Amino acid sequence: MLITFCTTKTLFSSTKVLFNSVRTQITMSSDLLASAKKIAATKAVDDWVSDNMVLGIGSGSTIIPAVSRIAERVKNEKLNLVCIPTSFQAKQLIIENNLLLGDLDKYPHLDCAIDGADEVDSNMVLIKGGGGCLLQEKIVASCADKLIIVADYTKNSVKLGENYKKGIPIEVVPIAYVPVMKKIAENFGGKLQLRSGISKAGPCVTDNGNFILDWTLFGEHDWVKVNLDILSIPGVVETGLFVNMATKVYFGLADGSVLEKEV
Ligand code: A5P
Repeated sequence: MLITFCTTKTLFSSTKVLFNSVRTQITMSSDLLASAKKIAATKAVDDWVSDNMVLGIGSGSTIIPAVSRIAERVKNEKLNLVCIPTSFQAKQLIIENNLLLGDLDKYPHLDCAIDGADEVDSNMVLIKGGGGCLLQEKIVASCADKLIIVADYTKNSVKLGENYKKGIPIEVVPIAYVPVMKKIAENFGGKLQLRSGISKAGPCVTDNGNFILDWTLFGEHDWVKVNLDILSIPGVVETGLFVNMATKVYFGLADGSVLEKEV
């Protein structure tokens, strides 16, 4: 009986030690990721943001330290900037950081857009839209002279799909999601899934009132052609494939340095 008690106690305390060590490891890796995002964002803002610019503000978690750095520089250096958001989240970030909010009606030409990415391949083809903001992100990027990407080291891949397993986001008009899924599956293969909302029953609805399909199609592809083919399907609004758009990518690394990549 005593032996059983001791064994159970020992088991309990070793499980606790294991649990604590897993928890410490998770905290350490999320700390590393957060600091990798911050160093990439800070370096990119310092290299690309200057006075009298119209600047696109991307979406996601890596853009948060970028906007903080922009706000810090605006305050310290009295920079005159107009910020164009790529999403509801970006708009809130601009407002909360007391930056000057603009829109494409008034500023259809941007000097630079700074944004995150879900994955970057060796040719600097990007997957974007993990946060559902691909449409506005692509519109804003297409109006900018330069698209600067900020990311942590987990986004750096040789091929798309190597690290990001959720697939290529495709924004679709709600009434067309079933035929679009069918056409893509029949013509290109891969797996398609209607993205579900989080803390909401049913599909994820974008800032533009559309649905998102996540399409897993990885391996060797001509991404220019894949992008154009998908865009030609009625009901498809935009894809999360950003081909030949990025000017430069900044990856924050785990050792505190920044890897810079350009074509
Ligand atoms: C938003 O829809 C995406 O395109 C983001 O830019 C992308 O998901 C990067 O987000 P994180 O910076 O959070 O990784």
